[in-house]
Amino acid sequence: MAREHDDTTDMTKTTATTTATTERNEKDDMTETDGRDLAAIHQPVLLEDCVRLVTGGIAGRAHADHAPTIVDCTLGLAGHSTAFLKAVPEARLVGIDRDAEALALATERMGREGLADRFIPVHAAFDEFSEALDEHGIGRIDAAFMDLGLSSLQIDETDRGFSYSHDAPLDMRMDVSQPLTAERVLAEYDERALVRIFRTYGEEKFSRQIAREIVARRATRPLRSSAELNALVDEVVPKAHRPAGNPAKRVFQALRIEVNGELDKLARTLPQIALRLRGHGRIVVESYHSLEDKTVKAFMAQGLVADVPPNMPVVPPEARPFFRELTRGALKADEAEIASNPRSASVRLRAVELVRPIPRRYAERFETAITSDRQYGERN
Ligand SMILES: C[S@@+](CC[C@H](N)C(=O)[O-])C[C@H]1O[C@@H](n2cnc3c(N)ncnc32)[C@H](O)[C@@H]1O
Repeated sequence: MAREHDDTTDMTKTTATTTATTERNEKDDMTETDGRDLAAIHQPVLLEDCVRLVTGGIAGRAHADHAPTIVDCTLGLAGHSTAFLKAVPEARLVGIDRDAEALALATERMGREGLADRFIPVHAAFDEFSEALDEHGIGRIDAAFMDLGLSSLQIDETDRGFSYSHDAPLDMRMDVSQPLTAERVLAEYDERALVRIFRTYGEEKFSRQIAREIVARRATRPLRSSAELNALVDEVVPKAHRPAGNPAKRVFQALRIEVNGELDKLARTLPQIALRLRGHGRIVVESYHSLEDKTVKAFMAQGLVADVPPNMPVVPPEARPFFRELTRGALKADEAEIASNPRSASVRLRAVELVRPIPRRYAERFETAITSDRQYGERN
C-alpha cells in the first residue's frame, strides 16, 4: 500500500496563528483584505523553487503578438501567482479557482499589489482548462502551475466541514455551488461504492466495516456532522489497528477527494495543459498525497522516455522523449520549511518542459484522456 501523506484537515492549528507570527515582518508580501492578512493565512509551499521552475525560460521570451502566459490552475490566495508576476514583469497570468471566495480575495490582492492589469481571474474547476483559455482568446501558454488540495483558508473555515477536528455539517465542497456534499455521499452511495472510495482514496484498511456500519445506521438516522462520522469510525476501527493520529483521517480524506472529484479532474487536466504548451513550455505540479503524485508522475512519464522497444540500438528522432524533467524525481520541503509551515511536510513537486512537439500518437491519447473518467494509474 502506498504511504499516505495527505495533510487534509488537521492543519487548523498550524495556519493563521503560526504563519502570522513568522511572516508579520514581511510587509512587502502582506495584503490586508477584510482585515485578513492573506500572506499570513496561507504560506505558499516551496515558493522559490516554484518561481524558478515556472518562470525559468519565460523572462525575455518575446512573442510577436502578446505577453508570455502563465496559468495558475489553483490560484488560492495568489501567494505563488503574485510571485510569478513579480518575477516576470512582461507576463500575464490566468488564475483559476473553483472557490469563489478564494478567487475574490486573490483578485483583491492582485489589485493591492499593482498586478491587476496582468491578471485574468477565472471561476472554474481546472478541468475546464481549455474552455477557460478559449473564452479569453488564449491559444498557447508558456507555463502551467498546480498547487493541489486545500488552502489554509478553506481548512480554517470550520463550517465547511473539511476538518475532522471541528464539529461541522458534512459538506467538504470546494465549490459551494455544486450539489454533491459529503453528507449526500454518505446518505446515497451504496455500500460497495463507499467501500471503493474509502479503500481507493483513503487506503483505509477497515473500509468494508466502516461502510457497512454507515449503511446500517443511516436506515434510521443519516449522518449529518463530522462529530457523528468521527464517533462511528471510532467505534468500528479496533484500537489495536489504528494508524497514528485521528482514526477518521483517511475516511475524511476519501470523502473530500470523492466530493470534489479531485483525481479525475487532475487526470483530465494534465493532458489539456500539455496540448496547450508552446515549445519549452512548462508544467509544474505540487501534490500532497500519494494518489495525486502517482497521477502526476504517470502522466509526465509518458513524455520522458523514448518511445521504442528496449533493444532498439538507435532512437529515431520521432521517438525521442518530448518532455525534459526539471526536478529529477520529486522535490520535497526541507526541515526549516516544514518547521515553519507543516503543510509543506507532504509536498512532492514535479516539473517538466516540452522539448519537442507532442507526437500524434500521444496527442490522440491525451485527447481521449480529457473526456475519460479513468485515471492514468488505472489505464497504464
Ligand atoms: C493549496 S491552495 C493554492 C494556494 C496558492 N498556491 C497560494 O499560494 O495561495 C489550492 C487551491 O486550489 C483550488 N482547487 C482545488 N481543486 C481545484 C479544482 N479542481 N479546480 C479549481 N480549483 C481547485 C482550491 O479551491 C484552493 O483554493
